[in-house]
Amino acid sequence: MSQNEAKRLAAEKAIEYVEDGMIVGVGTGSTVAFFIDALARIKHRIAGTVSSSDQSTERLRAHGIEVMELNNTGDLALYVDGADECDPHKRLIKGGGAALTREKIIAEASEKFVCIIDPAKLVPVLGKFPLPVEVIPMARSLAARQILAFTGGQPVWRDGVVTDNGNVIIDVHGLSITDPVAMERELSQIPGVVSVGLFARRPADVVIIGGEPPRLL
Ligand code: 5RP
Repeated sequence: MSQNEAKRLAAEKAIEYVEDGMIVGVGTGSTVAFFIDALARIKHRIAGTVSSSDQSTERLRAHGIEVMELNNTGDLALYVDGADECDPHKRLIKGGGAALTREKIIAEASEKFVCIIDPAKLVPVLGKFPLPVEVIPMARSLAARQILAFTGGQPVWRDGVVTDNGNVIIDVHGLSITDPVAMERELSQIPGVVSVGLFARRPADVVIIGGEPPRLL
């Protein structure tokens, strides 16, 4: 089965978590794009969505799905998003699509976080996928030096990428993250770091691994 087909099957399965009248938190990426397309089929049943990126907002609106402000909705019952890596404890690396900050805000505001992935995203230990860190532009070099000193990983500026929040991304290569909660906490304290693409303090609640049939973690 192709990776795209596995993504689509995971996204279709996530529709089972959507209940009538819900406001659904929506992540970002190619797996989520399949989820948005599936959500369009039942859009009359939901109250609306909260989006984690301009990219997802555009796709939701193109389907005629209402996009609401998190400040107006309060906490959400459900958040559906993809990931770049997932360990056996449902801790994630996210931010390959540079939307990590808004994704982390919505995950935190949500009662249930359903993560949709293809099997290639499953890893025993996080870190093979370069860890994205969103940084305020003037702190880029400082943050890179401190990330190197703390992690020993190689920080690489994602040249040409500006996040929806006007910031830059540093991808940290060569990590083997045995304590993701501690690394998330420590890197988040570097001045100028807006958010770290580790979702360990608030991991996913359910992980759907696309396949025939989909598997749950
Ligand atoms: C965006 C993300 C995505 O969820 C992650 O990059 C996975 O993307 P895809 O579904 O395209 O494989 O974190 O910031």
